[in-house]
Amino acid sequence: MAKHCLSLMDLKRDDILYLIELAGKIKRKIKNNEDYKPLKGIILGMIFEKSSTRTRLSFETGMKRLGGDAVFLSNRDIQLGRGETIEDTARVVSRYVDIIMVRTFEHARLDLFARHSSVPVINALTDLLHPCQVLADLFTIKEKLGKLDNIKIAYVGDGNNMANSWLMAAGILGLNLSVATPKDCSVNGSILNEAFKLSKESKARITITDNPVEAVKKAKVIYTDVWASMGEESQKEKKHALLKPYQVNRELVEYADKDFIFMHCLPAHRGEEVEAEIIDSEHSVVWDEAENRTYAQLAVILKLLGRDK
Ligand code: CP
Ligand code: NVA
Repeated sequence: MAKHCLSLMDLKRDDILYLIELAGKIKRKIKNNEDYKPLKGIILGMIFEKSSTRTRLSFETGMKRLGGDAVFLSNRDIQLGRGETIEDTARVVSRYVDIIMVRTFEHARLDLFARHSSVPVINALTDLLHPCQVLADLFTIKEKLGKLDNIKIAYVGDGNNMANSWLMAAGILGLNLSVATPKDCSVNGSILNEAFKLSKESKARITITDNPVEAVKKAKVIYTDVWASMGEESQKEKKHALLKPYQVNRELVEYADKDFIFMHCLPAHRGEEVEAEIIDSEHSVVWDEAENRTYAQLAVILKLLGRDK
């Protein structure tokens, strides 16, 4: 595993499978109230240039549960928001803390930060990728369906950071992934190429379509995300018009496996990307998925710091 976790590309197939196993162990220990404090003395710096509910809470509470601590740094409060450079921020913050998570806009900003940080850096969402979310999602699928292989996963909606992250996961792990987006909201081209390249070795089955029914047909997992991501507020109307036929609703899920699970990274907008009767149905695993962020991220932190044994 690389020094940082900026993308799933920093992980090999075995690393991802190991992190999923480790997340399960951490979950059991926390649920059983075991005296398990492998992060004693460790402080996580959390830099947010965008809003967050789950990411902040899961990182912060997770650190505290395993004996460590976390410092929340919003760009509204720190000098980064007033023009201090990303390089200087990285140099300085990494002198105070042991590991850092960053949520920002352009992925290049995260890469730049990581290059100037003397401690490991974790991607807590960029415009391009959200690896912590997809790790928690993979862990959730394993928990719910018992396996990751031979399961059709359908991603329906905007070709955003979640869709890109799913493509990487599929390419590395050899998953069966079908992505349906409108042509004008398609996934990132270089990530798609990378995923296809990876699939030669991993035997992933990746399908890209603009037909949501084709993607969802016989799927065991249906995944969607917001139609306008953070930072895309000005494109909201245009994207909503394009994405309307991609709503996950009763009509669409008729095509899926009858025992399908519904997933969403959240926050959700009922009546937009998903109808309430789907996200609030017994098929939905979104609350477990949100909780699992804690365990998946703790697995990443323990591994990066060599405290996983
Ligand atoms: N899924 C997710 O990252 O949620 P937040 O934006 O609330 O952190
Ligand atoms: N695609 C969404 C994910 C939020 C967790 C966004 O970037 O806003």
